Amino acid sequence: MKTSIITDTTALLEAANILQQGGLVASPTETVYGLCANALNENAVKNIYKAKGRPSDNPLIVHIADLEMLSPLVEEVPPMARTLMEHFWPGPLTLIFKASSLVPKVVTGGLDTVAIRFPSHPIIQQLIKASGLPLAAPSANTSGKPSPTNASRVIEDLEGKIDAIIVGDSSKYGVESTVVDTTGEVATILRPGGITAEMIEAVLGSVTIDPAISHALKEGELPKAPGMKYIHYSPNAEVIIVDGEESLVISKMNELIVSAHSQGKKVGVLATDETKEHFKADLVISAGTTKNLTTIAAHLFEALRTFDDADIDIVYSLAFPKKGIGNAIMNRLEKSAGYHIIKL
Ligand code: TXA
Ligand code: MG
Repeated sequence: MKTSIITDTTALLEAANILQQGGLVASPTETVYGLCANALNENAVKNIYKAKGRPSDNPLIVHIADLEMLSPLVEEVPPMARTLMEHFWPGPLTLIFKASSLVPKVVTGGLDTVAIRFPSHPIIQQLIKASGLPLAAPSANTSGKPSPTNASRVIEDLEGKIDAIIVGDSSKYGVESTVVDTTGEVATILRPGGITAEMIEAVLGSVTIDPAISHALKEGELPKAPGMKYIHYSPNAEVIIVDGEESLVISKMNELIVSAHSQGKKVGVLATDETKEHFKADLVISAGTTKNLTTIAAHLFEALRTFDDADIDIVYSLAFPKKGIGNAIMNRLEKSAGYHIIKL
């Protein structure tokens, strides 16, 4: 398949036409790039799973561009959902609702609920408006790889497999949206993201966090967001997190680097602006500054992909504070490390 690379983002009619005809278009969003198809066209949605190599029981998020698009897709809008929508839409927040019969089962992975997000990025908003369609869109990467935060990574994974890729800016947040279930008694975070637990608690008074987020799943245990059970965000390199007091972490990592080098391994370090000078590895990448965790979220996935470009065998990563967006960063990082964490 020939993939058109669309760089003129003022003329999205071609992309909108492709979507209306059941095709697949990758678009920038404020979280990560998304792979879009008409959410109401079963065949088009099936092709998303195919292009990504994604298991079909992992449901997709439906993207809308105004509140009027919501009601046909859902059975009801609970008061807590309305409050969250008022505060955080458009933006990096996905809400789980009871699905209406309009939503194809292939979108929900057979569940009776549907995930909906109103993104803030102007390009995907225009695409939804120009096509007049709700768009199902997972991250625009090959399933299992770190999500793409720029168009080059989408091209790397999906060129030749989809109809078009819209080239926009690098994703502002760099981690996928927060997923919140609003179908129960209290709002429950199923996936941490840019809208933090602290922000949600401030407007709702309370919020719970699906315990499956914070640890490796035990046998038979299932997270409420089906996608959270899969191996994710994993570069080809082995990732190991080293957690503890900064000076101890630096000396331990340098010991580990020497030892890996003696085994002939190519070693990478995921560091910060504050620590990057201290490591004697083959490739040291600073994800950003710990003074502002949003910088680290924004560069995390691109850093993991850059280690693979350099054929790094093993990556040692610092741990980041689990507060605010730090929860989303550590959720993705711990998954990419398969929960291999050295605690000092
Ligand atoms: O930021 C984002 O959300 C990006 C951009 C493109 O919008 N999209 C994204 O989609 O991350 P995806 O498919 O990579 O992740 C969707 C997550 C998965 O963890 C999935 O299991 C969960 O949302 N999900 C979808 N529908 C659900 C439902 N009905 N109930 C519970 N979890 C659901
Ligand atoms: Mg994804």
